[in-house]
Order: sequence, then C-alpha cells, then structure tokens
Amino acid sequence: MKTVYLETFGCQMNELDSELVRGQLETLGYRFSPDPAKAEILLYNTCSVREHAENKAYSRLGLAGVRKRDGEDLIVGVLGCMAERDGIDMLRRFPQVDLLCGPGELDKLPSLIVNVDQTDRAQRASIEDRAALAGNTSRRSAALTAATDDLESLDLSRAFDPDRTAGRARSAYVRITRGCNKFCTYCVVPYTRGAEVHRPPVDIVEECRRLAHAGVVEVTLLGQTVNHYRYTHGEATDAEGRERPQVGPGLAAFRNTVVEDVNVTTFARLLARIHDEVPELPRIRFLTSYPRDFGDDVLEVMAARPRICRYLHVPAQSGSNRILKLMNRGYTVEEYLEFVDRVLDRLPDACIAGDIIVGFPGETDEDFALTKALLRRVPFKNNYIFKYSPRPGTTAIDRFVDDVAEDVKKARNNELLAVQAEVGAETHAQWVGRTVPVLIERVTGQTSGAKATNGEFSDVDRRVQLGVGLRPTPVVLPEAPAEASLVQLSGRTPGDLIVAFDAPSGPEPSSLLGTIVEVEIQESGPLILHGRMVQHAD
Ligand code: SAH
Ligand code: SF4
Ligand code: F3S
Repeated sequence: MKTVYLETFGCQMNELDSELVRGQLETLGYRFSPDPAKAEILLYNTCSVREHAENKAYSRLGLAGVRKRDGEDLIVGVLGCMAERDGIDMLRRFPQVDLLCGPGELDKLPSLIVNVDQTDRAQRASIEDRAALAGNTSRRSAALTAATDDLESLDLSRAFDPDRTAGRARSAYVRITRGCNKFCTYCVVPYTRGAEVHRPPVDIVEECRRLAHAGVVEVTLLGQTVNHYRYTHGEATDAEGRERPQVGPGLAAFRNTVVEDVNVTTFARLLARIHDEVPELPRIRFLTSYPRDFGDDVLEVMAARPRICRYLHVPAQSGSNRILKLMNRGYTVEEYLEFVDRVLDRLPDACIAGDIIVGFPGETDEDFALTKALLRRVPFKNNYIFKYSPRPGTTAIDRFVDDVAEDVKKARNNELLAVQAEVGAETHAQWVGRTVPVLIERVTGQTSGAKATNGEFSDVDRRVQLGVGLRPTPVVLPEAPAEASLVQLSGRTPGDLIVAFDAPSGPEPSSLLGTIVEVEIQESGPLILHGRMVQHAD
C-alpha cells in the first residue's frame, strides 16, 4: 500500500477534515508519513480565504511538479476549498495535479485515488474520474442530497482511538454545522463549503461522548457561524428513523429572539445538552460566533454551566457602519457593542477575541479611525487582523474596486496591531493575582543535559508553529529560560489566554501534557500570562 503525505492549510474545519481523511485512508491500509520525500501520494488540503493561503499551496504544487518531471511516480491531489474554487480548470493549469476533491466530497477521495492509481499514466483517467466537486450544484436546492448523507458518514466514522488522544492531543474538533449562508461580500466560504447544513444533535452529543471516553479533555464545536445552529426535530429522518443533517434556516437573522418551540434544538440547547449529557468532558468550546445572532439564551446556558469555556470568538470585521454594510455583515457597530455589554454583564470573566479586515474597498481614514475606536472600546484579548484580499467569485471583487493601496493596507494593519497590543496588555493585566485552570499543551526550555525540547508540541501547537492556521496566531513561544535545568510548560485557560510557568519538580514534564493544573498568575503581557503552578486540578 502506498504512503501518503497530507498537508493542511486554512481553518479548523480543514484540520478536522484532514483528520477524517487520514482516518478513512488508514482504515483502507494506507500509511502516512510526515515527510513528503517518503510518500508516493501527496495530498494538499487547501484554503482559498485569502490569496496568500492559495500561494502556499501553489508553491507545494510547484515542488511536486519538479519531482514528477524528475521521473518520480507520484499521485498529487488537491483537496479542500481551492479545489472547489478553481474547479477542473486547475487540472489544466497544473498538469502535475492528478485529482481534485472539494470539501463536500471527501468521502469520495479513496475512489479517486484508486482511479488514478489504476489508470495507466500515459492515458490518464478521465476528468470525471479524477475530480469530485460540488460545483455550483450545492446551493441549488433546499433538499438534502444523498451526497450530504455520504459526507455525514465520514464524520460518523471517526476513529476514537485512545492512542491518538494520549498525552498531547487531548483537544478535538467536532463539527456541528457545515457551510455558510451569510455571504459576506469578501468571502469565498459560502461558495467553497456550500449551504449551511446542521448535524443532528444526537450525533454531535454521541461524538463528544466517545471522544471524552477516548481521553479528550477539550472539545471545540465547529461551524462558520456556530450560533446560527438550529435543528428542528421530526423533519428529516432516514428509513430507520435516524435523524439526518438538516438545511439551515436560510438567511434568517436570529438576533436575540427566544425560541419557544421545544421541538427545536437551538445552539443554546445544544450546548446545554453536551454539557449535561457528557459530564466527563472537562472543557467545551465553540468557534466561530456571528455577532448578529448571539442570543441571551446562549449566555444564560454558559453562565449556569462551568465546563463551557467563557471564550467567544466573534469577529467584528470593521468599526465603520458604512464598511460593515458594504461587507453585508448585517449588524452595526452599536449592535456589536450592545452584544459585548450583554456578554460582560452575564459573564464578567469572558474573554472576547475577533477578526478585523483592513483596506476593504473604499475604506477611508475616517472608517479606519472608527475601527481603531472599536478596538479601544471592547476588551479584546486578541484580534486577528487581515489585509483585504479580493477573491474570485465573491460579490466584492465584482462590485468594488480594490482601491486601498497595498502600502496603506500594510500601514493600517501595523497600526491596528499596535492598538491591539495595548488593548491586549490591559485585558491580560486584569488576570494578575488570580488563579486559573490551565490545560497544558507544550513543554519548552531545556531538561538538564538534554537537547532543547522546543520541538515538543501538541498537534495544535505544531500547527500554530507552522503558521498553517486560518488566522495568524498570536501565540508566542515563551523564551527558553537561561538556566539550563529550567523547564517551562504552557497552555491555555478556559478563556483561551496563554499561560507559561515553570514545570514543577518531580513529575516528568511531558507527563503533564494534556492535564489541567491550577496556575497563579504573576505577570502579564499583550499576548501571554506568566505564573506559578499551585496544584493539579485533575
Ligand atoms: N465564519 C468565520 C470565519 C471566516 S474566514 C467568521 O465569519 O468569522 C476567517 C476570517 O478571514 C474572517 O473573519 C475575515 O476576517 C477573514 N477574511 C475572509 N475573507 C477575507 C478576504 N477576502 N480578505 C481578507 N480577509 C478575509
Ligand atoms: Fe465568510 Fe461571512 Fe460566512 Fe464567515 S460568516 S464564513 S466571513 S461569509
Ligand atoms: Fe479556508 Fe475553506 Fe476554511 S477557504 S478558511 S479552508 S472554509
């Protein structure tokens, strides 16, 4: 059986997809190698959200092309959002690419590989046998296709292998919603991932339970707009009466409305169910929230349930109402601030993070000043700041000229980073003197006589290190301590604050990875807290 190299770009959704692809191919007997030079099948799970993300994948394809020209017998596959966005045109432009598989078709990947592998390279398999893409069919009908059920089976077949979740990899993603219905004008995701589809609550709860039993201590529920989750029971069942995934409620704005219908599982009810029905799961988190649809019901569920992390990633995108409108975000700055007030009123400890785009078409100095003002009004723990990147296929590229010069975008980006550093420093400083639970994710520094262990990271941290995450990470590696015998540990609080502290004497530091300990915070910076471990919380 051939050896596979799988590299992932883009968001957490892609990371989860890659995990499922890997499980699926391993079940079929394929082996995986972290070294592309040792693999005969090279798979790139790609992202289209910004041009920069695509360029990374193109450069990998360039290298693969060189290997093929040098006579290596390789299968090169492009998976994920770029495959879907570029479509079969990519096969023409990049002859080294053998197969394409969109994010909604990953269950078909094994047969694509077999098709390519079994066809004589001289005559190549037909394009239909080499590409599985949703094309523009995914949005055409509100009814669910069989394809969605097949895709669902990929999530359901997830391996719950305790060896995988041992030690460092104690954090897992669980999908609750596919796709997106928001159509922010700059964004490719609704086109690459298709319409919003919600998974049945019973499947989600069961997946969380099985992950907890396999040793996972933190589950992150994933959706592009996680708080737009809504499942109406009794509507979509299969022949055996099992609930099926369900198309989302269109573009409907939920705002802060109360759902009376007990037959509906809202996001708040889903969170409550997971918390209450999987009591063995220490941490439940979720990504990404949409500002407009964040109801008090979610805040109330969070306030009453301690294992739901008080961390909200709620991108504001801009502080100018004029730009928000051009972005089609569906809320105003005032509504965003009202939402933040509601959060801090009910969950005073909550940590809020976000995303901002600078240099959106037509963004003036005044618009930008309003964005800076927004950052100063909200106690953001961090903001991921992006320069606007025009994306083919989006409304913005058709309707608006990308008229903010690159050097202006860069200057605004840097200025905003500086403002965020100040805001982040103030937010982090509030935690000094408090004792917080920290999920340990990494060992840094040196053990006596041993080599630097800076390479000892959890999977999450490795991704962060490689910079493959959706958002450029603010994670800073703690400085290696001067004393050669000092070992540092670091991890995250429930609010996603990064904490570094000296490893206690006694236990082997790496044995503490994946455990939760209590740390008293002594110092703070714009991105990281430093403290002293006081006890094991486990
Ligand atoms: N559904 C999530 C994540 C979407 S993509 C959300 O709405 O928050 C993650 C981030 O990438 C977005 O929040 C946005 O800030 C940024 N982004 C998306 N498209 C972009 C583009 N064309 N140019 C620059 N940044 C973009
Ligand atoms: Fe893109 Fe907007 Fe959907 Fe987020 S909510 S994925 S930014 S369209
Ligand atoms: Fe990128 Fe697709 Fe995620 S475009 S951000 S990998 S949904």
